[in-house]
Amino acid sequence: MESVSRRALLTGACALLLAGTSHVPAVANPAVKKLPGGKLSVKLKDLSALSTDGGAVRIGSIKGAPVGIARIANNKYVALDLRCPHQGATVDKSATGWLCNVHLSEFENDGDLLLGPATTGLKKIPIKVSRGVAVVG
Ligand code: FES
Repeated sequence: MESVSRRALLTGACALLLAGTSHVPAVANPAVKKLPGGKLSVKLKDLSALSTDGGAVRIGSIKGAPVGIARIANNKYVALDLRCPHQGATVDKSATGWLCNVHLSEFENDGDLLLGPATTGLKKIPIKVSRGVAVVG
């Protein structure tokens, strides 16, 4: 009988659990507003997840793509397309970054790739911060 690795077993179990629900919908948040043209306006201080370096949160979607913001340093943020570059599942926040629960790719908080099967990091999205408000997209 062929042996099955722990990773393969977990991957299969996760894929079954997540079939049809490959992502968690963003929670409506009054700190996030959709702008004309589809960009998102975000009051950063109103998102407690971004109150410390290393914090990150999903803020909504742009043109159907799930989007998150991560605080990488004091007053430095990145916006990320949360679709896994492997096969497009939505990644979730993990303790230290982002995790794709379908095949267990892992990403740093800033979206850089930590562990495949994905071969690239999360796609970065333009973000401009002024007076505590980020415009993403
Ligand atoms: S879809 Fe395969 S690791 Fe994310």
